[in-house]
Amino acid sequence: MLGNFKYSNPTKLYFGHDSLKFLSEELCSYGPTVLLIYGGGSIKRNGIYDQVVGILKEAGKDIVELPGVMPNPTVEKLMEGARLARANNVDLILAVGGGSTIDYAKGVSVSAWCEEDPWEKYYKRQENPTCRIIPVGSVLTMVGTGSEMNGGSVITNHGEGLKIGKVFDDRVMPRFSILNPTFTFSLPRYQMVAGFYDIMSHLMEQYFSNDDDNTSDYLCEGLMRSLVHSSLVAVKEPENYEARSNIMWTATWALNTMIKCGKKQDWMVHMMGQAIGAHTDATHGMTLAAISIPYYRHVLPYGLSKFRRFATAVWNVCPEGKTEEQVALEGIQALAEWMRQIGVVMNIGELGVRPDMLEAIADSTILLDSGYHRLSRAEVIQILKESL
Ligand code: NZQ
Ligand code: ZN
Repeated sequence: MLGNFKYSNPTKLYFGHDSLKFLSEELCSYGPTVLLIYGGGSIKRNGIYDQVVGILKEAGKDIVELPGVMPNPTVEKLMEGARLARANNVDLILAVGGGSTIDYAKGVSVSAWCEEDPWEKYYKRQENPTCRIIPVGSVLTMVGTGSEMNGGSVITNHGEGLKIGKVFDDRVMPRFSILNPTFTFSLPRYQMVAGFYDIMSHLMEQYFSNDDDNTSDYLCEGLMRSLVHSSLVAVKEPENYEARSNIMWTATWALNTMIKCGKKQDWMVHMMGQAIGAHTDATHGMTLAAISIPYYRHVLPYGLSKFRRFATAVWNVCPEGKTEEQVALEGIQALAEWMRQIGVVMNIGELGVRPDMLEAIADSTILLDSGYHRLSRAEVIQILKESL
């Protein structure tokens, strides 16, 4: 392992089917006013809202509600939340939902007392907060993003055609997160499998960089194998607790910063996926799935030995009698076959992308150079065309 790194993670996790009971313990550490943030209403339909509000009331908290966080939260919604949090001088932000709700809560946490324009400061200029930060806790209901144990916060600005993620430092990461796998059982299949692919993409985007022998890569391979196994069980039996709990745990480790230690990482699939999201508002995991196979085929020659390792270590491809390239390509084929089995979207046309949108999507794509190959704008267009 040749890279240098700093590692810390302040988020306390409570995991399991009775983990919500620990919320009352956590609430003791914060003042009286709680901003309860949630999405479009799934938590009211599946009963999680009633359970959470019951615990908040029992703890004597004043609840300020902020519903309606949309998938891919917008900058306008961010400003609404910031004003509400400031006006009520809230002591804790409790996000109950998926990645969008938790990402949004982090954005509100650093925007409520910010005297500058948060979109410009945090997302466009990628600066760190210098104002008061409101603590965030979460109750996770959708698995995929890892937002429950990281500093990530992705905000969409449709006016500017941009969807930008900011990774905030330890001060903004959830102080605690409650992970109850049964809370994810009510997810529609489309969202469930989009989350599965999001996890795989996070793993691959940290895996496909560097050539040194690195413990992080072995951890990553283990997580990928577990995800492949459990996802195939979960698509057949969505209420299989063992499979869904493994996937929940894998998702958290896939993006809680540990497996990136000592790695350069290649986040180009997320950069293109976010650009597609900015122009279509499509489901995050599906935007990644729809471009991955053309992307990985494109960069494979530049990182051949790692793609060969991926094929044998993750997909059990037999290397005997085959060239390095043949083995590597069989790994990508196995990935595509698994994607078809779990049922993700594999072309951007299905997400609402038309050929006349490709130039604008390429303009919204941030180009990174930490993977095996730095894409040019023309290559982005080529990959988008191959993904149509
Ligand atoms: O809004 P509600 O009604 O709650 O419905 C949501 C939403 O429609 C629904 N849902 C969530 N839990 C449910 C449920 N429906 C039924 N039962 C449940 N238990 O699922 C839909 C999608 O939810 P959302 O939170 O948008 O999904 P996800 O967790 O995939 O989050 C996506 C956002 O996270 C960002 C993405 O860019 C996107 O904006 N990301 C955040 C990252 C991070 N913090 O590090 C990294 C990721 O790569 C990603 O970029
Ligand atoms: Zn993602």
